[in-house]
Amino acid sequence: MRKVIFDTDPGIDDAMALLFLKKSPNVEILGVTSSFGNGTIETTTRNALFLCDMFGIDAPVAKGASGPLAGDTGAPPAHVHGGDALGDLPTPPDTRRTPHDQTADAFIVEMVHRHPHQITIVAVARMTNLALALRRDPSIVPLVKEIIIMGGAFGIHGHSGNVGPVTEANIGGDPLAADEVFGAAWPVTLVGLDVTQETIMSTAMVEQLGEHGGIEGKYIRDIARFYLDFHRDREGLDGMFVHDSSAIAYMLEPTIFTTRRGPVRVVPGGIAAGQTIQVPDTRKVIPEPWANRPSQSICTTVRPKRLLELYFRTVTAQSAQ
Ligand code: BDR
Ligand code: CA
Repeated sequence: MRKVIFDTDPGIDDAMALLFLKKSPNVEILGVTSSFGNGTIETTTRNALFLCDMFGIDAPVAKGASGPLAGDTGAPPAHVHGGDALGDLPTPPDTRRTPHDQTADAFIVEMVHRHPHQITIVAVARMTNLALALRRDPSIVPLVKEIIIMGGAFGIHGHSGNVGPVTEANIGGDPLAADEVFGAAWPVTLVGLDVTQETIMSTAMVEQLGEHGGIEGKYIRDIARFYLDFHRDREGLDGMFVHDSSAIAYMLEPTIFTTRRGPVRVVPGGIAAGQTIQVPDTRKVIPEPWANRPSQSICTTVRPKRLLELYFRTVTAQSAQ
């Protein structure tokens, strides 16, 4: 069994990814940690608790950061995910479950020490919780098995940003945290817009999820309508980008992607704040701001059909109709 901590800001595509994770074989969800992002920390924590309830995930939900390491959060993107961050359905998300008594960063530190070399952290929100865990206890670095991040954009296939010309939301929401996380010597893979915007789940497939995915599939279909509307209006798509679920797909079947290695830095401020820049290891000379930083992996290509089939097959397996 692969032990996973899922760091998330639910969020419509986060909800889709959490269901994907829950339905994946050989995965043990040790905990869910919430982050500000698609909503305030109150909203995303409530949503994480609600989704765990709905999907039958018993693991604790540890409440995370309410804002970035520096600067302020900005308003949550209600036009993308809805005012409640889960598509503003007529019945709002509600739960009696309560958060874990540890903060997200403390929870991560404790779990890593309890299961050394065994934990995969899949982080699909701002990197703040991970950076705080790192600051709290740097000795966790060699003890984490793997970190898979949905975030960043490297301009490959023309994908360079979604909240600014060169800025992806999860990195732009806390550039300093991201730069600290990528600079630590743990194995990080970034699943960025370069691949997530190459993978489009059609409206028809979302409807099929509703048909064949049981109660959870119907719920995903219902909340996804808001997200589909956003993609139609903003991108002219009859479908939606597959962001957070691509990080789960990478964990399950990395051969769906190709990767490139090299140190990654994040532009800390100014008009390009949050831009992610990698110097590939194949360069003869690694320039100074990247030198002496660990090589990390970024995804450069994806096979969208395989990814979408994996998602559909996993989420619809053995669901009550
Ligand atoms: C990322 O930003 C959030 O809005 C999504 O949930 C995803 O994690 C995409 O840029
Ligand atoms: Ca997210």
